[in-house]
Amino acid sequence: MDKIRILGFAGSLRKASFNKAELLPANAELEIFDLEGIPIFNQDLETTPPEIVSIFKSKIKAADALLIATPEYNYSMPGVLKNAIDWASRPVMENAFYDKPVAIIGASTGFAGSSRAQYHLRQTCVFLNMHPVNKPEFMLPFCKEKIDADGRIADETTRGILAQLLSNLVGWTLRLKPD
Ligand SMILES: Cc1cc2nc3c(=O)[nH]c(=O)nc-3n(C[C@H](O)[C@H](O)[C@H](O)COP(=O)(O)O)c2cc1C
Repeated sequence: MDKIRILGFAGSLRKASFNKAELLPANAELEIFDLEGIPIFNQDLETTPPEIVSIFKSKIKAADALLIATPEYNYSMPGVLKNAIDWASRPVMENAFYDKPVAIIGASTGFAGSSRAQYHLRQTCVFLNMHPVNKPEFMLPFCKEKIDADGRIADETTRGILAQLLSNLVGWTLRLKPD
């Protein structure tokens, strides 16, 4: 069977972003799309978007599943991520996210591990008609202490939860589209 193609993107443009670290699915191929360079959304341009947005949308459409990493900014997802989602969701009949399975992960330097941002993102998934994996949730608090300079997570329990989520994403994708 062909590998499940996962497109991952993170709501952070920071070079040393914790939310770009350790995206390692098993039994699947992962391509990471960097949101750097996506301009601020302008609805006047939604039918003629900038090239980078068209590329982003076509990669989303070609993927079997998505993996979205969200930092938490002011108890929500960062504008960088919301802005990219807004572009790719338009025009409404060309919502690139429609019917896509998705896993959501996030890391934050605070104690809540991006959970509040993740629940806002899950709410957005309702309107987009995406299908998020429910469990396990992957929320990494105090990430400065848990992710090293190379973006690696040492803690085995944490690695296990991430691996389980990615495995569930593959299983979920196959259940939704068995062919
Ligand atoms: C504008 C801004 C708002 C933030 N708000 C929160 C927050 O609400 N909760 C939290 O846990 N951390 C918050 N942080 C800290 C982030 O968790 C931290 O900067 C993290 O490293 C961002 O993710 P990144 O490493 O992938 O860029 C905030 C950071 C910024 C810059």
